[in-house]
Amino acid sequence: MANRADNSIRCSNSKKPNDGMMLVISIFAGVVIGFLLGISFPTLSLTKMNFPSSILPSVATVYIENEKPEKPSKTSSQNEFNSSDASHHHKIWVPSNPRGAEMLPPSFVAAESDFYLRRLWGLPKDDLPVVKPKYLVAFTVSYEQRKNIDSCVKKFSDNFTIVLFHYDGKTSEYDEFEWSKRAIHVSVPKQTKWWYAKRFLHPDIIAPYEYIFIWDEDLGVENFDAEEYIKIVKKHGLEISQPAVESRKSITWKITKRIPGIEVHKEVEEKPGRCNDPHLPPCAGFIEIMAPVFSREAWRCVWHMIQNDLVHGWGLDFALRKCVEPAHEKIGVVDSQWIIHQKIPSLGSQGTAQEGKTAFQGVRERCKREWTMFQKRMTRSEQKYLKEIASASSNATRT
Ligand SMILES: *[C@@H]1O[C@H](CO)[C@@H](O)[C@H](O)[C@H]1NC(C)=O
Ligand SMILES: *[C@@H]1O[C@H](CO)[C@@H](O)[C@H](O)[C@H]1NC(C)=O
Ligand SMILES: *[C@@H]1O[C@H](CO)[C@@H](O)[C@H](O)[C@H]1NC(C)=O
Repeated sequence: MANRADNSIRCSNSKKPNDGMMLVISIFAGVVIGFLLGISFPTLSLTKMNFPSSILPSVATVYIENEKPEKPSKTSSQNEFNSSDASHHHKIWVPSNPRGAEMLPPSFVAAESDFYLRRLWGLPKDDLPVVKPKYLVAFTVSYEQRKNIDSCVKKFSDNFTIVLFHYDGKTSEYDEFEWSKRAIHVSVPKQTKWWYAKRFLHPDIIAPYEYIFIWDEDLGVENFDAEEYIKIVKKHGLEISQPAVESRKSITWKITKRIPGIEVHKEVEEKPGRCNDPHLPPCAGFIEIMAPVFSREAWRCVWHMIQNDLVHGWGLDFALRKCVEPAHEKIGVVDSQWIIHQKIPSLGSQGTAQEGKTAFQGVRERCKREWTMFQKRMTRSEQKYLKEIASASSNATRT
């Protein structure tokens, strides 16, 4: 993952221990710049090199002064010495810490992260705007669709962090758009939306965001405004939602179709035989995967449901209801903010023609196969779990 706006990649390269030449050059450069500007660049490069802290007492003092300017530096450094001394003698082990971090002092553990961009200078506390983005939108994009992506992004205010997953390797081409500077660009060739989501949108990484939009690139957004959408979703208590769809071509699932004149709908009547239970998919508790919106809590569950090898996400929509309770009330479609599905085949053309099938046919076939596999896995896992529960309880009654 790289944000092209900063040079953090170069910085982390210089940390490599075997990069002796780089180290010498950057210390030299640091000394020169420090000399010229009269600021503490050399000591900063030293900390980056992981030198033992014993040779950097002055750095420690400077750092503590910056953090707590109101305290006299002498007492602070003495306290610091005592406390680090104490940790040598009393081993820390906190079982409630995240797995793997049990030996760290709990208030120091940073278990979650974010996509906020920071500066390379100044005080960390002043890096971020007062109002931080609290929603996230991720588009899986190709350069061909840049005009449409530009229109989409403009429907999302500054309250959104923008993530672009590039499946065609073209990232710097987006520089023509002003918003591209504040976007997070992830470029991995020929992967799908759900592949990226599983790998780069872990719930702990995007924990500050209240709502997460994971959208395709071919959606028309003339009748959509993201801030308004969130107001409606909150009002109706929707944990998982999508904007209603207008399409010139036929719509597969009736629930996604826009019903003019209302704010949201949560259930529809389908073709006869499609729904055994009116509260179950595809009649209710159901949205499609082209433009889903998840609450933070719902996403934490859905992320765990995404299988690493089933990259097209087919079948996921039918299982979403397992993540919210009751699903027929918390999953719904927003009619007053709606989108147009342009159905431009995009990823389909990224496959490879083989065995007498076109690239598109090959991708299509895999989608369907994955759907079956997803359903089988889910059913088997549920049966396995229920069997184990049953045998455990029968063991318990036997003894
Ligand atoms: C730190 O150590 C000094 C000397 O051993 C002691 O006088 C002082 O009370 C200690 N301070 C704390 C906060 O433990
Ligand atoms: C961003 O969020 C703040 C706080 O909720 C809100 O006041 C503001 O109107 C939002 N910005 C836009 C462009 O809607
Ligand atoms: C129940 O008992 C059987 C045989 O006594 C044993 O093989 C099985 O592992 C037990 N199951 C559980 C969940 O303890």
